[in-house]
Amino acid sequence: MIVAIDGPSGVGKSTVAKLIAARLGYAYLDSGALYRAVAWKALSTGTDPAASDAIRRLCATTTLKVSSTVGGGMVVEVDGQALQDELRTPEVSRAASQVAALPDVRARLLPVQQNFGRQAGVRGIVAEGRDMGTRVFPQAPVKFFLEAAPAERARRRHAEFVGAGQAADLAETQRELEVRDGRDRTRESAPLAAAPDAMIIDTSRLTIEEVVERMLRMIERKAAALR
Ligand code: DC
Repeated sequence: MIVAIDGPSGVGKSTVAKLIAARLGYAYLDSGALYRAVAWKALSTGTDPAASDAIRRLCATTTLKVSSTVGGGMVVEVDGQALQDELRTPEVSRAASQVAALPDVRARLLPVQQNFGRQAGVRGIVAEGRDMGTRVFPQAPVKFFLEAAPAERARRRHAEFVGAGQAADLAETQRELEVRDGRDRTRESAPLAAAPDAMIIDTSRLTIEEVVERMLRMIERKAAALR
C-alpha cells in the first residue's frame, strides 16, 4: 500500500504523515529530506544551489541512502554521514527549493524514493512531498493533497521555529514560505500540484486529529476496496 501526501510548506504534511505511518505500521518517506540533503551537500562544498552543471556533477559523486528508523522516522545518509538537524536550517530550506527545480536532481532522486518501499519488512509506505501522487508514485491507490491559507501555514511554521528555540519573525517566515512555494508551484520539472485523483483537504480550520481521522477513513475505504 502506498499513501501519497502532497501539499505546500507548513500545511502539516509531515505531522500527519508520521501519525498515519505510526497508526498503520507503515514506513514514512520524507522526500523533502532528500532535496535538503543535496542542498546541504551543495552548501557544505561551496557549490551554488542554482548552478545546474555543478549540481549535476555533485549529484553524480554523492551517495545517498534513506532508511526507516525503528520509531517510525527516516534517516538520510549523505556519503555515509547521517543527517538530521543539519537539514532543517533556513539556509538549507532555501537551497533545497533551488536544487529541487533542477531536472537532474529530480531524476537522481526518483529511484531513491521509488526503491524506499522495497526495503525488507515494509508493508506499506506513507510518502510525503510535492510530487508523490503525480510523479514518484502515480500508481498509489490513495492520494491526498493538503492545502491551508498562507497566513495559517506561516503561523504554524513560525510556531515550530519558536518551539525549537530558534529566533524567527512571523512576517519574514510568511515571506520566505511564499517565495519557496512560488518556486515549487511554477517550476517546469514536476511542479507542486494535486494529482487528478487526489483527495483535497483544506487543513486551515481542522485540528491535526481531525485531518488524520479523515485520512485514515479514506485509506481504510480504499484498502477495503482493494481486498
Ligand atoms: O518538504 P520540505 O520543506 O522538506 O521540502 C524541501 C524542498 O524540497 C521544498 O522547497 C520543496 C522541495 N521538494 C520537492 O520539490 N519535491 C518533493 N517531493 C519534496 C520536496
